[in-house]
Amino acid sequence: MEGEPKPKQVTCYLLFSLITAVIGSLQFGYNTGVINAPEQKLRAFFNSTWVERYGKPIEPGTCTIVWSLAVAIFSVGGMAGSFSVGVISNKFGRRKAMFLVNILALIGGALMGLSTLCSSFEMVIAGRLVIGLFCGIFTGLTPMYVGEVSPTPLRGAFGTLHQLGVVVGILIAQIFGLESLLGSELLWPVLLSLTVLPAVLQCILLPFCPESPRYLLINLNQEEKARKALVRLRGTEDVSKDMQEMKEESVKMAMEKKVTIAELFRTAAYRQPLLIAIMLQLSQQLSGINAVFYYSTGIFESAGVKEPIIATIGAGAVNTVFTVVSLFLVERAGRRTLHLVGLAGMAISSLLMAIALFLKHIESLSYLSIVAVFAFVAFFELGPGPIPWFIVAELFSQGPRPAAMAVAGFSNWTANFLVGVSFPKLEELCGPYVFIIFMAFLILFFIFTYFRVPETKGRTFDEIAQSFAANATANDVGSPGEDKTSSTTPLLAASSSDS
Ligand code: GLC
Repeated sequence: MEGEPKPKQVTCYLLFSLITAVIGSLQFGYNTGVINAPEQKLRAFFNSTWVERYGKPIEPGTCTIVWSLAVAIFSVGGMAGSFSVGVISNKFGRRKAMFLVNILALIGGALMGLSTLCSSFEMVIAGRLVIGLFCGIFTGLTPMYVGEVSPTPLRGAFGTLHQLGVVVGILIAQIFGLESLLGSELLWPVLLSLTVLPAVLQCILLPFCPESPRYLLINLNQEEKARKALVRLRGTEDVSKDMQEMKEESVKMAMEKKVTIAELFRTAAYRQPLLIAIMLQLSQQLSGINAVFYYSTGIFESAGVKEPIIATIGAGAVNTVFTVVSLFLVERAGRRTLHLVGLAGMAISSLLMAIALFLKHIESLSYLSIVAVFAFVAFFELGPGPIPWFIVAELFSQGPRPAAMAVAGFSNWTANFLVGVSFPKLEELCGPYVFIIFMAFLILFFIFTYFRVPETKGRTFDEIAQSFAANATANDVGSPGEDKTSSTTPLLAASSSDS
């Protein structure tokens, strides 16, 4: 019977493969969070190399430029990396791509770790660029692999594992960054280069993981290998349903051919999901989350909090706890609902944050800023944190998926970069009102999500792609390949087909 609950196909081997892939996410989080704490130590290092070379101290303005470059170049690397994910994942396959890309983590880690020995601040900057490149590729590879090996009823919960890896990485970086641990004058190069350890671990584990069965069957047409991988992942010989579903997708893909980024934009049937994917990524970054993660210590300080570093670590802990909450909720409540609740909660929290900063002269209100930041982060992790990363893999079938991941990742990293570089200036210009800007964005994205984002919970990749294609033809927008204007029909109708 259709509605009969299927046993949830979770095996140790599946979990092992997922955890191995998520080591890449951990590194993304680690490198996002690691630069916050040792700022003063790095500035001192820039100064001492300057003195060594030119016999005089670095100008404060130049020092800030070098520092900002070291922070922001990470996202530039991320933009380039995320953009190349389509080509890399199709050329090498998902698993081999993850293996090879780790070379970048080793190079990046070595450059940063050896920078003091070589008295070269340029090596810190180059290292941040390379590690950003690495992280950019992984923000596409991990969600793609996880989405492709997970059983449909658990795709959202496992998709959230990517974000869980990210937040745990941020938390580890915040803790290791404490002055008493690795955030000291002597040890900060170790702190920055520690990212090589998970890289090595992942390379040791990856050969024991399967290649994505979807890649094997649909891209390489290796049916037997795909079946074997699925049998091991699902822990049962009966994988006929999964195989059947992949074959159907494969037949359609043979007609569709491979999809490049340019074709993705030109094809009417992809336009709706592409718009949704990009908007969800923008909603994640323009919510202002990284203003908090890059600059929380400063925000707490200016709100009069006595122990800003502890409050920052507290935010990291809340971040982790709520990602776990989301993991358990996402298959029940659905993606759309959680994203909406998250955006609304974040909008209210940003208002609270603005109020807290505005009234900072009232001492008893300094705690309001902590409550506001914690609530902001908690609501972020309910939806806007994890969902945009994995929903892109759900919105597209095998053919356009890699190109779509590239475009979505690129949008995310670009917005991340823009928030990172502009926040200090914006804060200077707008003071406490800076969070009102984020609130305005959050409201806009709430409206968009409400009207345009369909529920994808429990539906196969093919069903989701079909509903978009049907929508495009229903609106006479044309078949793949034609160049017409985008459909404006809300896709809410597509939201209730799961049982
Ligand atoms: C998401 C964002 C990342 C952010 C993190 C915070 O993964 O993509 O930029 O730092 O969440 O938890």
